[in-house]
Amino acid sequence: MGIIELNDIYTAYEGGDKPVIRGLSLCVDPGEYVVIGGPNSAGKTTLLESINGLIKITHGSAMVCGLDLRRHGNAVRKKVGYVVQNFYFDPFTPFTVEEVVLMGRYGRLGLLKRPSKEDFEAASKAIQLVGIEDLAHKTIGTLSGGQQQKAMIAHNIAKEPEVMMLDEPFSNLDFHAREYLQGIFKQVVRSGTPILMVSHAFDGLPDIRIHLVVMNKGRIIYDRECDSKDVESIIRKECAVNEDARISH
Ligand SMILES: Nc1ncnc2c1ncn2[C@@H]1O[C@H](COP(=O)(O)OP(=O)(O)O)[C@@H](O)[C@H]1O
Ligand SMILES: [Mg+2]
Repeated sequence: MGIIELNDIYTAYEGGDKPVIRGLSLCVDPGEYVVIGGPNSAGKTTLLESINGLIKITHGSAMVCGLDLRRHGNAVRKKVGYVVQNFYFDPFTPFTVEEVVLMGRYGRLGLLKRPSKEDFEAASKAIQLVGIEDLAHKTIGTLSGGQQQKAMIAHNIAKEPEVMMLDEPFSNLDFHAREYLQGIFKQVVRSGTPILMVSHAFDGLPDIRIHLVVMNKGRIIYDRECDSKDVESIIRKECAVNEDARISH
């Protein structure tokens, strides 16, 4: 059984008159690196939010980490890492990077429990892995967008999720940082945890098989394994074939 199994799902935003995701099916197995591409407004972010139980599924069946998403959204969220698109911390946010990363462990702690030695160790390991030791004691809101993104990646690594989802995590990062993080993501999938990554930057993709998903208008128009070097050209081709899917800015 896959870690994610979506079968003909429809999802709609609160108050939205039409479903955004329409008749979508997707299966993700352990250790897969899933790249999700497609034009703006295709529904990529909405798909990740649906998998995380943040948007109501109005039709179809959805199993994530062995749980029925339509009934156990809260439990699923504890098992899924999710680096959201375009987040921003207020400059006065009163938490250091170290504290934000440690919060990745909170889903595992019971109410009012203090973090254990193991939790502190997981947080410090994640900080080292992402290479942000020098930022650990800075408050998160004072960092650049790219540094905040790295901190949130470390937060989600410390969480030790069963699935890792990242929504355009490279938007503020240069090529060097992208390539470095891709190396970390390669280790994550090697350890068996699948990654779902929405991105438009494919130059630093690790040299491994990619499960490529291309979306348009709330549907999947391509769903196949491919070589990482072919990802960009396949997305271009699929979007060109589907006239309506031309990237519009
Ligand atoms: N909070 C929301 N409420 C209603 N509609 C939304 C909301 N967020 C996104 N949408 C709509 O859902 C569609 C897909 O958006 P999105 O998933 O953000 O696309 P992508 O991430 O592929 O650019 C768009 O038409 C967008 O307008
Ligand atoms: Mg998006």
